[in-house]
Amino acid sequence: MEAVSPARKCRILPAGPDALAAARSALLAGEAVAIPTETVYGLAADATNGEAVARIFESKQRPSFNPLICHVTGIDMAERFARFDPLSRKLAEHFWPGALTLVLPLREGHAIHPLVTAGLDTVAVRAPQGFGAELIAAIGRPLAAPSANRSGRISPTTAQAVADSLGDAISLVIDGGPTTVGVESTIVKVEDGVIHLLRPGGVAAEDIEAVAGKTLQRAQAGSAIQAPGMLASHYAPNARMRLNAKDIEPGEALLGFGPQRIAGAEKARAVLVLSATGDLVEAAANLFDYMGRLDASGAACIAVEPIPEHGLGEAINDRLRRAAAPRGQE
Ligand code: TXA
Ligand code: MG
Repeated sequence: MEAVSPARKCRILPAGPDALAAARSALLAGEAVAIPTETVYGLAADATNGEAVARIFESKQRPSFNPLICHVTGIDMAERFARFDPLSRKLAEHFWPGALTLVLPLREGHAIHPLVTAGLDTVAVRAPQGFGAELIAAIGRPLAAPSANRSGRISPTTAQAVADSLGDAISLVIDGGPTTVGVESTIVKVEDGVIHLLRPGGVAAEDIEAVAGKTLQRAQAGSAIQAPGMLASHYAPNARMRLNAKDIEPGEALLGFGPQRIAGAEKARAVLVLSATGDLVEAAANLFDYMGRLDASGAACIAVEPIPEHGLGEAINDRLRRAAAPRGQE
């Protein structure tokens, strides 16, 4: 039976063949759909589609772009875009599908949109159980999904909790009943044979240690590996960044927004416009890619046109401010 959440426009469909078909077509059309996993409900979008991923941030009203977990059917799908060291492979073989997320280096030429990884050269990957697994298999590509709650709220473990938190921002929630694990996945990253615990979660550290035959390293507070999404240095291009530019200075590249260019734009070394129509979803999807391309133009400075602070503009400006922050500071 299909339920419509009272006073909200989002549909709640019970997990099953109809829900699978509805979620599949919504995701292929670039929408974000809330789905059950064994840990918590996730707000999923096609990980190869930047605008779809931008809609996740828009729906959650996140004031910043943190990297998201890529959900896969298993090691085979993950290998299309990420590289496994032997220890990560052993952990995936043992714990997947399940509540373990591995941070792995991205492969050259991968199709994961940079908004998923927030421009990092690593990607967080996990294979969920149940409906999520079936859905990813039906779509044949990875799904980016953070927990399906509004930013700053607790992660939802029922479809109703998702609807209560995000019901006015998304159109479809798949109800798979209460989640069985109830907390987010454990996140680890293997580096030089050392397993770093980035986030405790649904798989106990002791169980990982038993399989790996070694102790986990707890990340130090403030260390680079613990919270990559918060570090200014990860977003710093080689070029300086000049925000809210009103004109162009000699040798600068220009990152534009909206229909109109600032004075002197024709003299810029390179120009890329995040969204000519002023669409913040489109702008978010282009942000990391365009910053990288303008940086590669060799300009010493990238001037950035003003971007409004509403909707996704807040996260875009947050990212730009980090990129413009003085170097050597975090
Ligand atoms: O159980 C879960 O993990 C749920 C379900 C939906 O799968 N997802 C979830 O996603 O909790 P989210 O976005 O709320 O948390 C993702 C975490 C963030 O702490 C983020 O910093 C970290 O994963 N992360 C993502 N990519 C990373 C990377 N390349 N390196 C280090 N940490 C990363
Ligand atoms: Mg979360």
